[in-house]
Amino acid sequence: MTSSQKATLTPPTFELKPYLLDRQSQVEAALDAALPMAYPEHIYESMRYSLLAGGKRLRPILTIASCELLGGNSQMAMATACAMEMIHTMSLIHDDLPAMDNDDYRRGKLTNHKVYGEDMAILAGDGLLAYAFEYMARATTGVPIDRILQAVIHLAKASGAGGLVGGQVVDLQSEGKPDVTLETLAYIHAHKTGALLESCVVCGGIIAGGAPVDLQRLSQYAQNIGLAFQIIDDILDITATSEELGKSAGKDLQAEKATYPKLLGMEESQRRAQELVSTAKDSLNVYGAAAQPLQALADFITTRRN
Ligand code: FPP
Ligand code: MG
Repeated sequence: MTSSQKATLTPPTFELKPYLLDRQSQVEAALDAALPMAYPEHIYESMRYSLLAGGKRLRPILTIASCELLGGNSQMAMATACAMEMIHTMSLIHDDLPAMDNDDYRRGKLTNHKVYGEDMAILAGDGLLAYAFEYMARATTGVPIDRILQAVIHLAKASGAGGLVGGQVVDLQSEGKPDVTLETLAYIHAHKTGALLESCVVCGGIIAGGAPVDLQRLSQYAQNIGLAFQIIDDILDITATSEELGKSAGKDLQAEKATYPKLLGMEESQRRAQELVSTAKDSLNVYGAAAQPLQALADFITTRRN
């Protein structure tokens, strides 16, 4: 075999850092354009304050990556990717409210209600929730309408009482209870964090026109990284500083929340997160080198510091 033949057979090693930087800037620009200022300015300012506060943009990047894995492109997926970040942002605005976690800092900045007041923060969350669905249904181009509808249904289900809302309810009800089981904790994580992450990945696949078997594999991948993501979140709440996290560290202990480190210990939690990431990556092996971005994103989840 000649060296040029060898070069075409060896898949190039995937560099996550430039990939993330490139996607993050695409997503930032798309979010900025998706939600322009309008009347009444105060509410748009408040929605834009949280939506454009930075962050890893992991969810929209997952949507784009899974769309590309199944033969779609970033343009087709971008409106759906933006909708994912809008839902994520609104859930954090509401999560930070005094009635819930009562947090002062998010993404290194004052929380929405600290700047705009509780009334505006509730409405900013409501506005982002409604706009996410309007935007993905209206601004998605080059995609058959039945796929868009299927993605809207998937995301609506993931956001409601059977998903994010349900997970947050059980989380709030479990606070301060000494006897929360691993099963309840798994429910909280699968719904509060996992449902939206799964929807990001699966909706990217739906937009690309993936077959049921592809969507099943993407769902497996996403459920595993979703749980790993939350276990790492629990670990970072203990090991990282508030500066690293851009939000208050040590909140779980303070609120007497059930967490993986509390129930299983630090070492076992770390081992489980690693095992989940490895299972997630395996479910995409069938796609060969095309799965490298999603597999590298899975690794990133366990090595991140914020
Ligand atoms: C952060 O968890 C909170 C969430 C991941 C979701 C919260 C969900 C809601 C408030 C329901 C939103 C409503 C709709 C309709 C989607 P955390 O408190 O463990 O993490 P943190 O330390 O980052 O605050
Ligand atoms: Mg919180």
